[in-house]
Amino acid sequence: MSEIINPHQLKYLESFRPEPDPLILEMEQLAAEKNIPIPDWKSAELLEQILLLIKPKRVLEIETAIAYSSIRIARKLKKKGYVDTIEKSLDNISLAGEFIKKAGLENQINLIEGNAKEVMPLLDKKYDLIFIDADKEDYEKIFYYSLMLLKKGGVLFVDNLLWHGYPASSKVPPSFKNSTKYIREFNKLFVNQSALVTSIYPVGDGVGIGVRI
Ligand SMILES: C[S@@+](CC[C@H](N)C(=O)[O-])C[C@H]1O[C@@H](n2cnc3c(N)ncnc32)[C@H](O)[C@@H]1O
Repeated sequence: MSEIINPHQLKYLESFRPEPDPLILEMEQLAAEKNIPIPDWKSAELLEQILLLIKPKRVLEIETAIAYSSIRIARKLKKKGYVDTIEKSLDNISLAGEFIKKAGLENQINLIEGNAKEVMPLLDKKYDLIFIDADKEDYEKIFYYSLMLLKKGGVLFVDNLLWHGYPASSKVPPSFKNSTKYIREFNKLFVNQSALVTSIYPVGDGVGIGVRI
């Protein structure tokens, strides 16, 4: 149950959810079975709309997991657009590779193996959109690298900024204490970053959008 949107409203919104295509559905089922976090469907829809608005050529995703969003992103790009996506888990890389092949998107999705904190300083291109969706303790470092890699006018899209509702709550379960602390610190950093025009939206698990100025 969402701690962010009133369950009654969420149920109403869900009644409008288009039926996902079979590959997306298969990935959602696998993620649920294996407990692999993927974005909420409303966040994924918002990301797709932004892609259609800004028509990016180059997208960087941190991180891939099973390539659920990589595939959704690549499907919204023009022919010459591509996604660089970074993942450190070998198990997830193997699953992501299979799904990318199944989607026929090997030419548009470049799966980079490694820890984003080591890979990002080696990247030499700038991106039109960067999607941050990693371990919460890594958000700050990844954010600073992203600022260096984001083009002027580019969009930073950050997931989980309302983190199950815990950053705004005084009752945080022990297993979420650390991650909630990281998200609270990150949110302050994000909204006060002068190189970006930012806002945090109560969509899915909380989406931060920053436009590089
Ligand atoms: C929330 S999932 C990513 C979901 C994916 N963005 C999507 O939309 O389908 C987080 C993934 O990040 C990977 N990860 C976390 N921190 C990382 C890091 N510093 N470098 C590389 N991969 C990382 C984890 O192994 C996990 O697969």
